[in-house]
Amino acid sequence: MQQKQPKQQSYWIESAPQEGPYPALDGDLVVDVAVVGAGIAGISTAWELARRGRRVALLEADRVAAGVTGHTTAKVTALHTLIYERLRRTRGSEAAGLYARSQTEAIRHAAALVGELGIVCDWEDTAAYTYAEDEGRVPELRAEAEAAREAGLPAEFVTETGLPFPVAGAVRVEEQAQFHPRKYLLALVDDLVRQGASVHERTRVVRLKEGGPCRLTTEAGFTVIAGDVVVATHYPVFDRALLFTRLSPRRELVITAPIPADADPHGMYITQEERTRSVRSAPYEDGRRLLIVTGEHFTPGTADVDERFGLLADWAVERFGPLDLTHRWATQDNDSTDSVPLVGPFHAGSRHTWVATGFGGWGMSGGIMAGQLLAEQITGHKAPWSDLYDPRRVLSAVREAPSFLKHQAQVARHFVGDRLAPAGDTSVEAIAPGDGAVVRVGGHHCAVHRDDDGTVHSVSARCTHLGCLVAFNRAERAWECPCHGSRFAPDGQILQGPATKPLERRKI
Ligand SMILES: Cc1cc2nc3c(=O)[nH]c(=O)nc-3n(C[C@H](O)[C@H](O)[C@H](O)COP(=O)(O)OP(=O)(O)OC[C@H]3O[C@@H](n4cnc5c(N)ncnc54)[C@H](O)[C@@H]3O)c2cc1C
Ligand code: FES
Repeated sequence: MQQKQPKQQSYWIESAPQEGPYPALDGDLVVDVAVVGAGIAGISTAWELARRGRRVALLEADRVAAGVTGHTTAKVTALHTLIYERLRRTRGSEAAGLYARSQTEAIRHAAALVGELGIVCDWEDTAAYTYAEDEGRVPELRAEAEAAREAGLPAEFVTETGLPFPVAGAVRVEEQAQFHPRKYLLALVDDLVRQGASVHERTRVVRLKEGGPCRLTTEAGFTVIAGDVVVATHYPVFDRALLFTRLSPRRELVITAPIPADADPHGMYITQEERTRSVRSAPYEDGRRLLIVTGEHFTPGTADVDERFGLLADWAVERFGPLDLTHRWATQDNDSTDSVPLVGPFHAGSRHTWVATGFGGWGMSGGIMAGQLLAEQITGHKAPWSDLYDPRRVLSAVREAPSFLKHQAQVARHFVGDRLAPAGDTSVEAIAPGDGAVVRVGGHHCAVHRDDDGTVHSVSARCTHLGCLVAFNRAERAWECPCHGSRFAPDGQILQGPATKPLERRKI
């Protein structure tokens, strides 16, 4: 039973506050490499490049490690639900082997850095599991265990886990890890600055001109000249390669609650059942553990988020017993159409622009791997897995057509269908305090929110990315675009890209 309202905030951000802000860029800058976006992918890339002697600038629109990375679950594992059987079937055993090797090397590299730099980030070695309760899924799990083993992971099929409920079966991979993502990344950023890199927060990049060198423009009007530019903004801004056709956003919910140490499930778990359930624990106060449960995924702007939080909490209580929830939050990741991240040259013609995106819910090992891979490529080397992750890889009818078509149909439905459909029979007067709705006023779709004081805020409902109509997420008080996941505050300010411009204000 829930006893008090959980804080609507990421536990990672609350438990690892940043000491002081890094200054916003207030002049022009010339560097070897500019990295745009300071999540795990951008920070890892910037750090790897600085270590290789490059002059680096890390430019962050908001605060470092506070985007998706600050709201993750932070399992650091190469077991990515059921990737290996799929990879083996669609891209062959060699690709599956390279995927396992690249992710495993990233985990080992991070573990070594933790030791080398003395980073205190609650790093814990543990096993990862993909499980199912439904007997019908056992063959799938057996096939995954076999494919993961063939790919080189210490994987086996088991029927016993540390979960407090029976499972029909699970894939277990030993020698994986979990950590506190912000403690790890804030230490890495500190070290980056010690190495002479410039780090700028509250510095949104709004324009990219490619060339030799490349030229970036910030929202405040400053210019950064860089030999190379890495776009690590999660969903890529300046999408020259039309990657948005190959990425679909998936939002997910996270809840946390302390449990006694002897109730620790001792491992990291995930199932695709019930719109995904993911479980891990972390060190907590008074010798207890903090249970972290994730799930209830949905396309941004399409779910009753309060109801979904309720379903996730009910599931956790049913499985783990009475819980006092401490925190709840939500965040989203991008799935690529072939389930492999897009890391490498930005587009077919690019010589000095690079991208890291599409981590599909596995951007911890993926982001660290991206940092290593991009640093190697920018310094003129090729990794054995460059081709596997190359964003320019050709769309395969076999492996990508179904998810590509499904995503495009969904985008088309929102782009065209939502405009043609009447904007419901909601009137501005009918919007309750705390709620919001899209209302047609004078022929325009307006996104109207009434705050707790009763004041009405109205902005255009047309997303500034490609023009789909946004929808209101009442639980998080945000406008969300179902097409590619841009998110906006009630006053239209950008919370998350790919949009780079706020929603226009509308008088009603
Ligand atoms: C609920 C959930 C749980 C997850 N759990 C796990 C897990 O257990 N293990 C795992 O491996 N992965 C997990 N993931 C996935 C992982 O969290 C992400 O893949 C990863 O954090 C993405 O990192 P990023 O650096 O690409 O993005 P971000 O962390 O979002 O960083 C991008 C940064 O770019 C900045 N930015 C955007 N636009 C601009 C601009 N124009 N100018 C400058 N800066 C800009 C943003 O402010 C942001 O800080 C999870 C994902 C979700 C949704
Ligand atoms: S995020 Fe692409 S249209 Fe809104």
